[in-house]
Amino acid sequence: MAEQNTTARPKGKSLKPLKSLLPFILDYRGTLFAALIALLVASAALLALPVALRYLIDNGFAANDVGTINRYFGWFFAAAAVFGSFAALRYYLVSWLGERVVADIRTAVYDRVVRMDPTFFETTRTGEVLSRLTADTTLVQSVAGVSLSIALRTTVNLLGGLVMLALTSVQLTLYIMMGIPVVIAPMIIVGRRIRRQSRTTQDRVADTSGLADETLNAIQTVQAFTLEPQQSERYSEAVVESFKAAVRRVRTRAFLTALGITMVFGSITIILWVGSRAVLDGSMSGGELAQFLMYSMFVGSSAAGLSEVWGEVQRGAGAMERLSELLSARPAIRAPENPAELPARASGRISFNKLRFHYPSRPENAALKDFSLHIEPGETVAIVGPSGAGKSTSFQMLLRFYDPQAGHIEIDGINIAQLSPTALRQQIGLVPQDTVLFGDSARENIRYGKPDADDFAVEQAAIAAAADEFITALPEGYDTFLGERGTRLSGGQRQRIAIARAMLKDPPILLLDEATSSLDAESERLVQVALEGLMKDRTTLVIAHRLATVKKVDRIVVMDEGRIVAIGNHDELIRSNELYAKLAELQFGDQQQDPG
Ligand SMILES: Nc1ncnc2c1ncn2[C@@H]1O[C@H](COP(=O)(O)OP(=O)(O)OP(=O)(O)O)[C@@H](O)[C@H]1O
Ligand SMILES: [Mg+2]
Repeated sequence: MAEQNTTARPKGKSLKPLKSLLPFILDYRGTLFAALIALLVASAALLALPVALRYLIDNGFAANDVGTINRYFGWFFAAAAVFGSFAALRYYLVSWLGERVVADIRTAVYDRVVRMDPTFFETTRTGEVLSRLTADTTLVQSVAGVSLSIALRTTVNLLGGLVMLALTSVQLTLYIMMGIPVVIAPMIIVGRRIRRQSRTTQDRVADTSGLADETLNAIQTVQAFTLEPQQSERYSEAVVESFKAAVRRVRTRAFLTALGITMVFGSITIILWVGSRAVLDGSMSGGELAQFLMYSMFVGSSAAGLSEVWGEVQRGAGAMERLSELLSARPAIRAPENPAELPARASGRISFNKLRFHYPSRPENAALKDFSLHIEPGETVAIVGPSGAGKSTSFQMLLRFYDPQAGHIEIDGINIAQLSPTALRQQIGLVPQDTVLFGDSARENIRYGKPDADDFAVEQAAIAAAADEFITALPEGYDTFLGERGTRLSGGQRQRIAIARAMLKDPPILLLDEATSSLDAESERLVQVALEGLMKDRTTLVIAHRLATVKKVDRIVVMDEGRIVAIGNHDELIRSNELYAKLAELQFGDQQQDPG
């Protein structure tokens, strides 16, 4: 999956990915402007230092005048103080900008990702997304904050230094100008390589977090099958890969540093050599050489700093590229231009019309074929069928997690493709097979059904779902923390929380995927009571695994291999449909005594 992403990616050679950083930075134009001002002031002060030094040497010493010397030392110190404080201000502003921008990018990426449809998550591992959210944004932060600041500063110092050099000695400056392309060209070539390698490094890092995420989410399965050694092995292999990728990058980077520093200081050496001869033959004063020396140090260290930071900026471009991919991801399922409107509370008439659907990853295998079913408002319909028959798929279609290849679904006579997915899902309550709880209190977990509900409504829903009793018995009642993914509750308790959630949402349409795991008689009875309350007064589609449920509904739909093979009530189907009779015996057989 991650490999797919890597190959699909165009091989960029530029800093173009950093362009997508721009809108985020431009949101803070004021700060950016202030930072630029601070940068210019600091640079001007820095560039004034050598001038003060030259006057100090040429006038102060030459004039042998204490007053003049004092004055120039005063100026020298003033320039240094201005430089110090504005450099600090620039650092603060630019770092602030970096942190702010990264916070915004994280939010924007997350915002995108939570809106993606299931197809996206089938091809992108969640660990990969998490890695981009953390590791890549951190890299971008170092670019947007630190590196960009250094790059700007060194560029300004470099240019300013060059101008001042030219004012000091045109001839020497010409030498320097000739040297610059020689220094810059290899930097650019090597820099590109770094960017590519950095991308690979980040991809490998994402692989490791993807693996860890997968394993840790299934830790009990891993331990039950004693797969710890294999999983550790897999993880360490991935880590070694990411280490190797990082070392390749660092090697290139080290080479770049060596190249940059040697070139720069090589050039300075030559200039100094030429300059010293100029002082010897009298065409330059000692103060001028000192000034020139200081400027060429600025220019040299700026160029060296630039080559260093160039690699960082390239890394950031690689990371930003990965983030841009997520930022530009668009869900395949989205609202049409002018969505149709459902009434605030739909009546709940559902009609599946000749649906044909296969999952994107299984084009040759239709999960639903010629699937037509009409359900009246308030009706309860049970769906039964062997495993893999397509029961859960029909729910996913109704929730519009996928679009069918043929046919359509209507709610209250409106094609759901014409609705915004949000408006559609607001009409539907889902009680899934495995309840998913969040790492939050019991109260908040129920409130997920209707985020603006007050505490009283939450408790009423819990009472109706037969959950009030066990919740109040928890150590802190409704405020008890349920553990990550609700690990601190039993299966039956989790189900009743899910039922309470649906009660609170109070949707006109209810989708119920009955849990296959059997509960003990008492929990089973409580869950059944809760469900009956929930199904009242709304259209309900229930994937049934229990005799008690199928006996109560008017219509049972029997599915096999994506098709509807029979419709009827329990007694009719037992007599007329072989598949149903077999299912009834196998699935509900052990409950035949259940009075239901
Ligand atoms: N995300 C998916 N990608 C590809 N194929 C899928 C996906 N989900 C389900 N399928 C396939 O679609 C078919 C129908 O699956 P579905 O989940 O609807 O079965 P089901 O009737 O709910 O079975 P069960 O009773 O075991 O839950 C199966 O063959 C299954 O392998
Ligand atoms: Mg299923």
